[in-house]
Amino acid sequence: MSFDLIITNGTIVTSADILDPKVEIGVKDGKIIALGYSLPRGPKTQVLDAEGAYITPGGVDSHVHLAQAESPDGDNFETGTRGAIAGGTTTVLAFASQRRTDDSLFPVLEAYHGKARGQSYCDYGFHFILTNPTKHIVNEELPVLVNKEGISSVKLYMTYEPMKLDDRAILDIMMAARQLGITTMIHAENSDMIALITERLEARGLTDPFYHSVSRPQIAEGEATNRAICLAELTDTPVLIVHVSSEMAMNHIREAQTRMLPIHGETCPHYLLLLSERMQAPDFEGAKAVCSPPLRHDLRDLSAIWRGVANGTFTTLSSDHAPTKFSSPYGKTLGMKNGFPVFRNIPNGLPGIETRLPLIFNQTIGPNAKISLTQFVQTTSTKPARLYGLGGVKGDIAPGYDADLVIWYPPGHRFAADPDDTAGLCISASMLHHNCDYTPYEGMKLMNWPRYTIIRGQIVWDRDNGGVIGSKGFGEFLKRKKGSVVTGQTGGLAQGMMDGERELWL
Ligand code: URP
Ligand code: ZN
Ligand code: ZN
Repeated sequence: MSFDLIITNGTIVTSADILDPKVEIGVKDGKIIALGYSLPRGPKTQVLDAEGAYITPGGVDSHVHLAQAESPDGDNFETGTRGAIAGGTTTVLAFASQRRTDDSLFPVLEAYHGKARGQSYCDYGFHFILTNPTKHIVNEELPVLVNKEGISSVKLYMTYEPMKLDDRAILDIMMAARQLGITTMIHAENSDMIALITERLEARGLTDPFYHSVSRPQIAEGEATNRAICLAELTDTPVLIVHVSSEMAMNHIREAQTRMLPIHGETCPHYLLLLSERMQAPDFEGAKAVCSPPLRHDLRDLSAIWRGVANGTFTTLSSDHAPTKFSSPYGKTLGMKNGFPVFRNIPNGLPGIETRLPLIFNQTIGPNAKISLTQFVQTTSTKPARLYGLGGVKGDIAPGYDADLVIWYPPGHRFAADPDDTAGLCISASMLHHNCDYTPYEGMKLMNWPRYTIIRGQIVWDRDNGGVIGSKGFGEFLKRKKGSVVTGQTGGLAQGMMDGERELWL
């Protein structure tokens, strides 16, 4: 047996360890076959020299919005996944969105397959956004989606008028999800609190983009997160609270986890790196930073979320890539009415699919590092893969896994032409490969970026020799298994219940 590819002279970082730099990776038929010393070279073996750089698993971005009807000028599967591989992400999980008027999920699924088939540069799967969870859909269609179509997760909204579900609908879905082994993702913000504040801000003429952050305070996220956790505890259902932005919500998750409940948390780079002051940028540019939950006000908010990543409260670190262009009639400028800003009309969401991995990797470097390299691997690759039914295939570096890898630049690499310039690489919209006309990280300096991205043993991104060299359509649809509970466990007693009480009605 000879390897198709051997990667040598790199420091491999897995979810558990940083390996001896002499350990090589042997790849055959797209899979990692061996990790070992001096692997045998055959006549056809390609040898890739990592030149002393770190090698991490390809990123698994488990929260991206591609080809969404409500973002007509956002990324589609081609442009979004092109950005993904240029930033080291090799698997994305995107949303297939049910509209309220859809009374079956199968045509919706077929439509999303149609949007993605032959278009994707990286491997992909779908979560379903449920907005009209009829009895038929919950009881008859969800089992088929999980068992036949490989879609083992749903996202539910507690806010946004066209999408939000009431507690009873959420409970009904949780009951089904528990039986089926579906992972339930929840967008937790209190819709009525937001509506009240928005109306009162508008009545006072406070409609600039910045007031978006005032209209969705931390307490709105905290209350809804606590409620979602209570619903999950009642029904003994694993859930993931998506895009957590605030310490209050995080503390509810942490508290539930200390009681061993299967409650997972997700956060995103923008809640670790950006503040609401960006929404005060002049000339309506503050709209570029409008997302929900909103960016928070204080550096202490960022530190709190970093703490949650470092202490394991957050299971996954995703991009929540939800771009709309700034200079487009269908993008952020929808929030301008007769020359005046109206924050409630600004499409929510930020681009971030390409910058997620480098932004977080850079926080593992140097004396001010926020997390370790293994924590980076766990939160950006391994745990999202396991949680969403891709464990053992994606998200780690070990025999049997797909050979999805990122090779970074060797430590000390100079990005600037000037050899004395150690300032690193400066992020700009013009260097990115997604289809958005801005990045919220414009001007930010990074000390590293993926040099090579490899998917199933194929180099698809070679930053110095051609950039994106993978092909559109190389990405495969992933039929996922049922997800694993990564944090806590099911089967515990809900608070105050006696033994066997839940079984009387569950
Ligand atoms: O602002 C955001 N996050 N927009 C995308 C939709 C969502 O709720 O994830
Ligand atoms: Zn959301
Ligand atoms: Zn989202």
